[in-house]
Amino acid sequence: MHSVAFQNIGHNAVYLPFQILPEQLPKLLPSFEILGVKGFNVTVPYKEKIIEYLDWLSPQAKFLGSVNTVIFENGLWKGYTTDGNGFVRSLEAEGENLKGKSVVLVGAGGSAKSIAVALLEKEIASLTIINRTEKKANQLVRLLKQLNEKIDIHSTLIDTAPLDILINSTSVGMEDSCVPVKAELIKKSDFIVDIIYNPPETVLLKNARSMGKKTLNGLGMLLYQGVEAFEIWTEKSAPINVMKKSLIDSLDFIDS
Ligand code: ATR
Repeated sequence: MHSVAFQNIGHNAVYLPFQILPEQLPKLLPSFEILGVKGFNVTVPYKEKIIEYLDWLSPQAKFLGSVNTVIFENGLWKGYTTDGNGFVRSLEAEGENLKGKSVVLVGAGGSAKSIAVALLEKEIASLTIINRTEKKANQLVRLLKQLNEKIDIHSTLIDTAPLDILINSTSVGMEDSCVPVKAELIKKSDFIVDIIYNPPETVLLKNARSMGKKTLNGLGMLLYQGVEAFEIWTEKSAPINVMKKSLIDSLDFIDS
């Protein structure tokens, strides 16, 4: 989606995949400097390991200890994380206004952490984190409270309270027919979001849709983390529709 978008706005660049070995990481940035690479994305398993080679981190990347987008600017390698903001933008693109909303986030791993940080910046009313391993949910809650004292953040569900948004950030539903939450929780929520995009409709989303709920899969998060990266690299607005079409065309399990 990036190469097509560069072409669309007349930006002289291409986006290429590089597969590197862990022991090559120390030599990566000097090599990229020689080759004239202006920026890149980082994925698993290098999102944390890349940090020690960078000169500057965005506040979000620093807090999360994770980088997925790098730019070479004025002789410095700068690291950003666009997953959380990409997630939030995918909700906003669906007409969702997050301010004042009560949100339940399922999972307490890397994805949950970046989503939670981005949600807190949107002045949501409350955030409940539930996780298979409760200890990890508690740890994440403690960390997030350091970031924002005003928002009600906890790891225990209050049974009677209605919910606006329910988000699955775990991999449950990717390869099996399991649902990471009980049906009552789906029933109580208005909008159910799954960060999984393959399959395009997980059992969680299917169940939610059959209850008449608004649903969203993770394709928008994938698109908008790319949109954010594109805007960091080019300092221009991304041609979102062009990127979306290219992304959908490249994923053969999605009917366009
Ligand atoms: P990611 O970066 O994709 O978030 P991660 O950091 O490994 O990956 O986190 C995976 C999350 O999915 C965790 O919250 C994990 O729960 P645990 O902390 O209990 O491990 C959750 N998860 C993975 N498989 C799960 C399963 N079968 N049932 C419930 N939760 C699961």
